[in-house]
Amino acid sequence: MPLSRATSPASHPLPERCDFTVFGGTGDLALRKLLPALYQCDLEGRLPDDTRVVAVSRASYDDEGYRSLARAALAEHGPGDEQDPAAVERLLGRLHHVTLDVTDEHDWHHLYGVLKDREEFASTVRVFYLAVAPRLYETICDHLGRGGLAAEPARVVLEKPIGHDLASARQVNDVVGGVFDESQIFRIDHYLGKESVQNLLVTRFANTFLEPLWNSQWVDHVQITVSETLGVGDRGAYYDQAGALRDMVQNHLLQLLCLVAMEPPIEVGREDVRDEKLKVLQALAPMTPEDVDRDIVRGRYRAGHVEGESVPSYADEVGADESLTETFVALRTEVQNWRWAGVPFYLRTGKRMDQRLSEIAIVFKEPPTDVFPHREGLTEPNKLTIRVSPDEGMKLHLTAKEPGPGGYRMRPVSLDLSYATAFAKRSPDAYERLLMDVIRGIPTLFMRRDEVEAAWAWCEPILRHWESTGLPPKMYPAGSQGPSAAFTLIERDGRSWQEYLPE
Ligand code: BG6
Repeated sequence: MPLSRATSPASHPLPERCDFTVFGGTGDLALRKLLPALYQCDLEGRLPDDTRVVAVSRASYDDEGYRSLARAALAEHGPGDEQDPAAVERLLGRLHHVTLDVTDEHDWHHLYGVLKDREEFASTVRVFYLAVAPRLYETICDHLGRGGLAAEPARVVLEKPIGHDLASARQVNDVVGGVFDESQIFRIDHYLGKESVQNLLVTRFANTFLEPLWNSQWVDHVQITVSETLGVGDRGAYYDQAGALRDMVQNHLLQLLCLVAMEPPIEVGREDVRDEKLKVLQALAPMTPEDVDRDIVRGRYRAGHVEGESVPSYADEVGADESLTETFVALRTEVQNWRWAGVPFYLRTGKRMDQRLSEIAIVFKEPPTDVFPHREGLTEPNKLTIRVSPDEGMKLHLTAKEPGPGGYRMRPVSLDLSYATAFAKRSPDAYERLLMDVIRGIPTLFMRRDEVEAAWAWCEPILRHWESTGLPPKMYPAGSQGPSAAFTLIERDGRSWQEYLPE
């Protein structure tokens, strides 16, 4: 008898009214991601009818001026030619701009007026999206609290990175938590909003055939790769203080690892998924200085060629000759629990790599005995690869007999699921799903305070050891697969990075 429980959207109905306030309303995130996502949700009738979007920034736009800016942003970052003019106008009509220097006491009255001076204030879902530098969180939260705007049903949205180490993450969490209850705080890791990442939960827990194999008895190792062709672009000032471990591993890669390794939740949609992810983070093997030296490779790109274009080195791109910031990390870790003991998890991520790709590979063990002693041809271990981006999909790699007379000539083949072909549907951007979950108040795909802090606690010894040794990252040419040490890292275990080239 299949289990049937209330699904999360049903238990979190769409509110009737919403004021969606974006601090940093003229910034890159708002224009490139949030407005296009809101447009798409509005187009599909998913926003509450009575929704206002209030952009807050220091710029002196009036509503009309901001709408022109938003129109241009939607043209550039929205669905382009396929834009629906009526839906654009509808969204623009919802937009307001409030000029506000958050550090100026007097400026706040304008925002208080706009948000409080509306019908049904008490039952309006107020979303406060903090798309600004974290040093402003305290001031903003303080004013929201004092202005009477932080009470339920208000919600606050924070972007990663939450802090730059454990102590600063705790500080951010304390500051925001001093005004908002944990249930009102939505910490975004946009990887959790990606369709293929959500599908990982469905693949694992809405099917039965994988679960008996999903453990150390049958899985040889797991690989998670997030490789980008882009460099750091105009985010150099932020990135040079962060590096790949803080920017990607502490959040996106560890979150993917959690979803692969977690136990089945009792139910998706409550706290269970976050409880189970937390247990994985707590079970990660702690890193001693010796482990860091042996099991982690840091790299940094020099000049090279990416997709046929010549690109500068990191140092030239950022103007930071002296910095020790890494743009690549490869590491080996283990999840020390009953299910996974002894199974290596290899993670790697880098900028300016040979291709853009996010992929998870579950590599299974070889058959326990060879019943084809006179076999010919090539065999490879079974492998399930989950393509997070681009071309979302899944592949199950098997060994098959090549048709023909005589003995057993074998070849690796794959069962291939491409989302684009199987569903013939647009795959929504991660922010569309996440913004709607904030509006509805569904916390599952957001990071809870204890998760964020557990991830930092695991990263902390790595960061400290790197700081104390002061060794520079290993160089790799832009357009490659990272430093050669990353290959040595996995090859010394008798394994290799999975080739992710298309067949
Ligand atoms: C962001 C990082 O969180 O994720 C960026 O700060 C990175 O450095 C980006 O480029 C990658 O996201 P995606 O969705 O393009 O894989």
